[in-house]
Amino acid sequence: MAATATSSRNYSVPDWVTSKRLIDWVMSVADHCEPEDICWCDGSQEEYDRLCQQMVDAGTFIKLNPAKRPNSYLARSDPNDVARVEDRTFICSVSKKDAGPTNNWMDPIEMKKVMLKHYKGCMRGRTMYVVPFSMGPLGSTIAHIGVELTDSPYVVVNMRIMTRMGKKVLDVLGNGKFVRCLHSVGAPLEPGQQDIPWPCSDVKFITHFPEERLIWSYGSGYGGNALLGKKCFALRIASTMARDQGWLAEHMLILGVEKPDGEKTYVAAAFPSACGKTNFAMIIPPAGFEGWKVTTVGDDIAWIKPGADGKLYAINPEAGFFGVAPGTSYDSNPNAMDSIRENTIFTNVALTDDGDVWWEGMTKEAPGHLIDWRGEDWTPDCGRPSSHPNSRFTAPASQCPSIDPNWENPEGVPISAFIFGGRRKTTVPLVYQSFNWSFGVYLAATIGSETTAAAAGAVGQVRRDPFAMLPFCGYHMADYFNHWLEMGRKLPDPPRIFCVNWFRQDDNGKYLWPGYSQNMRVLQWVIDRSRGRAEAIESPLGWMPRYSSLNWDGMEGFCRDDFHDLMAVDSQMWKREILGHSELFEKLYDKLPKEFLFMKELTLSAVWRSPETWKLESFNS
Ligand code: GTP
Ligand code: SPV
Ligand code: MN
Repeated sequence: MAATATSSRNYSVPDWVTSKRLIDWVMSVADHCEPEDICWCDGSQEEYDRLCQQMVDAGTFIKLNPAKRPNSYLARSDPNDVARVEDRTFICSVSKKDAGPTNNWMDPIEMKKVMLKHYKGCMRGRTMYVVPFSMGPLGSTIAHIGVELTDSPYVVVNMRIMTRMGKKVLDVLGNGKFVRCLHSVGAPLEPGQQDIPWPCSDVKFITHFPEERLIWSYGSGYGGNALLGKKCFALRIASTMARDQGWLAEHMLILGVEKPDGEKTYVAAAFPSACGKTNFAMIIPPAGFEGWKVTTVGDDIAWIKPGADGKLYAINPEAGFFGVAPGTSYDSNPNAMDSIRENTIFTNVALTDDGDVWWEGMTKEAPGHLIDWRGEDWTPDCGRPSSHPNSRFTAPASQCPSIDPNWENPEGVPISAFIFGGRRKTTVPLVYQSFNWSFGVYLAATIGSETTAAAAGAVGQVRRDPFAMLPFCGYHMADYFNHWLEMGRKLPDPPRIFCVNWFRQDDNGKYLWPGYSQNMRVLQWVIDRSRGRAEAIESPLGWMPRYSSLNWDGMEGFCRDDFHDLMAVDSQMWKREILGHSELFEKLYDKLPKEFLFMKELTLSAVWRSPETWKLESFNS
């Protein structure tokens, strides 16, 4: 180790770190945050095991029974640090206009002043870890490199699963530029002060400086607030890079469908947080789809670039899954269950008496006794859930049985269709296809969804969530719509665009659609349509499948009338829905693509002209 004189504390730097740019930045942060020492993460298994053991000793991690869940750990967070904090998330572009009305904004100079006060001495008594990481396969032309400085070992081990991390990244980086990500849990230790299992702060800031490609996060240790490669870099910062450079950074899963004759089609789908991306990405074709295969490229984020052949190519910038635990079972998602059999970190789920994990929906019957996510005794009759609704697993993507052979292909995979969805009890039919690219951009821009536990705040309220990107777009949402329109203009044969809703309910609150593996029937129609070979009916909202255009083989207890109920469009409700579009458009008016206003008028008049309830059955399907 060579000593450096840059810092007043004389922290040392290992020989394999050569980037002056990196060393200077690390030392300037250390000077301000005053960590006890600096650990340069090499990404080795030995380092991972050592940090996990250190967290076991500190009470942050519980090692799970190796016979049940090899090399796996359970962490319980502070009950006030369990989800993304959207009201504490800021886009600090130089001009407020660039952040747009859907983002919180603060002047970058002002924000830095405030945060530098919080950061002063914030790592006292702790180690600052230097975590070099690549979003995307190492060396891929679509990939980008970041370095996260953090005082949380929990973040380090999660980043090792979620990204390509360590020494090998610095070898690729050389003296090049990288996205600077600074993270602190905001809980300095006084000399002799005992640490707690999940240090964090009541004051939280998740801030982005898009012009500088810089991320500063303070006060939270959880998920997207702290694993800065994910939402902060791969979506908020990357979306601004994508706008500037002519590509797309999206909150999308990527999957491949292989027909029995070997034809392979890739699809990307955007649903808001906790609305079924992981499930859909790993779907297992149901009875009636013998010989069909679905493969997984990614479950949360897609970076998409136009190729020389005029097609769009997508990569998954991540290397792991940070998936919602509750509801995940061998019935709902066997591929996810197999992915988390070992080498997995669980956060805020329950601990079983034999040292394994459990959560609501994992098995039909709950165990008789558990330790819940707060560390308290739990029995099935105690009236509390055992796991937090936003409890999650962190698992390597390579462990997923359905992982696509091309998932690490640096060129990406060609995308034939985009699917957009939301969580809607009423109003929105199971599936419809946009008439064209620009109307598809309109449909995606105006999607509504009920809020979920993935973000702090009220759950179940319908809000507009354009492209499932409302919390993740790093610039003005209307500029983002324009960017999508512009991308389409440049593509000779752009992917087809579809909307879905797996969540429609009857008056008694029962789901009208069984969902999960049955979504394959919709996926087949999507693929057939994007290859121009399935028929469709023109509805006020777009093209819709007839009952007879879907494959119903092997599906019991679902009849033609059920399908028509699921596809019905109620004119009154859609008029109200379109009022919701107007509300969004008014907010974004200064930069809104003007064609959106015409498309809104067209949709409204189509709904007006249609009968009170527009039903497929009247089309003799
Ligand atoms: P993030 O990781 O938060 O971005 O979200 P995600 O979209 O990957 O969420 P995930 O797949 O983990 O969503 C889980 C939730 O969706 C659970 O509440 C599931 O029960 C529900 N879900 C997934 N697929 C279906 C479906 O086909 N039908 C119904 N009714 N619910 C579904
Ligand atoms: C989401 O909320 O959309 C997630 C989880 O994927 S987190 O990484 O915590 O943002
Ligand atoms: Mn997500």
